[in-house]
Amino acid sequence: MISDEAYLWLYLPGETSPVVCGVVAFDGVEHLFRYAASYLNREAAIPLAPPNCLLGELTDAPIPLDFELNSVIRDASPDAWGRNVMIREYANAPGHKESDLGEIDYLLRAGPDRIGALDATSDPRQYIPKASQAPPLEDLLEAADRIDQGLPLEPHLDVALNHGTSVGGARPKALLQDDGEYWIAKFGSSKDATDMVGIEAGGMQLAEKAGINVADTRVVGVLNKRVILVRRFDRVVAPGGTRRRIMLSAMTLLGLDEYAIRAGYSSYLDLADILRQYALDFQRDGTELFRRMVFNILIGNIDDHARNHACFWNGYTLELTPAYDVCPQPRSGISADQAMTVGLWGRKANLQNAISDCARFGLGEQEALDLVRVMHDVVRNHWLSVFTEVGVPRADLNYLSQATILGESIFYKLVSDDIKV
Ligand SMILES: Nc1ncnc2c1ncn2[C@@H]1O[C@H](COP(=O)(O)OP(=O)(O)OP(=O)(O)O)[C@@H](O)[C@H]1O
Ligand SMILES: [Mg+2]
Repeated sequence: MISDEAYLWLYLPGETSPVVCGVVAFDGVEHLFRYAASYLNREAAIPLAPPNCLLGELTDAPIPLDFELNSVIRDASPDAWGRNVMIREYANAPGHKESDLGEIDYLLRAGPDRIGALDATSDPRQYIPKASQAPPLEDLLEAADRIDQGLPLEPHLDVALNHGTSVGGARPKALLQDDGEYWIAKFGSSKDATDMVGIEAGGMQLAEKAGINVADTRVVGVLNKRVILVRRFDRVVAPGGTRRRIMLSAMTLLGLDEYAIRAGYSSYLDLADILRQYALDFQRDGTELFRRMVFNILIGNIDDHARNHACFWNGYTLELTPAYDVCPQPRSGISADQAMTVGLWGRKANLQNAISDCARFGLGEQEALDLVRVMHDVVRNHWLSVFTEVGVPRADLNYLSQATILGESIFYKLVSDDIKV
């Protein structure tokens, strides 16, 4: 580890500049967070998470975070892709090695563009954000491509790529601004066997057709390749400046870490319980979460893990963010598991399982079945045209139609016989 301390800055709701809200430090044994006294004295101070979560209480006592900086702080840190870029950038210099970098270094190195309303600096007195000048999309694409293939980067591409380090997720991506709007650009990877850019764009557009509140997307051509642009919903451009919205992943809300997620311990049902407790409008968001779960089953998106769901937090209530990363995961096997528990049969990816505990989402069985029926019809009637329109090649469409989208196993033991294979 190079740094053992980072000051956290928060854009309070409605504000266009941040205040220091606390410090994360490594004391030689563990990572600790402490709310700043100056923050606790503010009338507008809010806890960084709901009361049942880590950091959910405004206290001056140090709060132990685990090894990987769990909670909202982890959400403000880079994920696999960003770390990959940082490691390369750092380890390229003579005498540097990957293991020098610790969690606080990753936290500090992600720039002010990071997702959500937090930023981190090494100076508590002044907010001097890491320089941020969005490079041209061509440079970003070329840089992402080269790093993905393990090729060396020229200096200007290095700078370009560093711009993508502050966003989470595992796939190659970058952050950019266009016409004052904020976007995430997601690139294809040389490791993809299918057109993942087109397939993700299709998944997002179909979700919108199925009535899900989803982030805006656009597909653009750059250097003869296609890139999907996803409009950021954690930035609000207003005449007086840009505001930021506090975002908490389902991983944070469920009090889990990466290992628990990978081991399959997260649950839509538990997330629904949290919404029931803290949502501004549980009826709306409970139903919306149910829709997203069912839609993921319908299109074969089994990468619906707890960092692919998030809520806005304003210090008092939660609201589901628009859906993102809604993307069929091409597969040839017949049956599958979702990444989170769906119902009484655990993570089994089928519609009857989704309906089995629908009361947890605030829904009666008939209501749940009606929602499934309507979404099923949208997917059946429109998926091919939507995916064709965004340019997914015919071979990939055939592949998706075999076991991924409306795969036969999702209809297993479905009580309603008017939703048919
Ligand atoms: N439209 C958006 N506005 C704000 N934040 C977003 C948006 N879309 C995604 N994010 C944030 O960026 C992170 C990475 O995005 P995304 O999940 O699309 O990437 P990914 O690499 O495909 O992820 P995965 O590792 O799940 O495959 C998300 O976990 C979320 O925190
Ligand atoms: Mg993701």
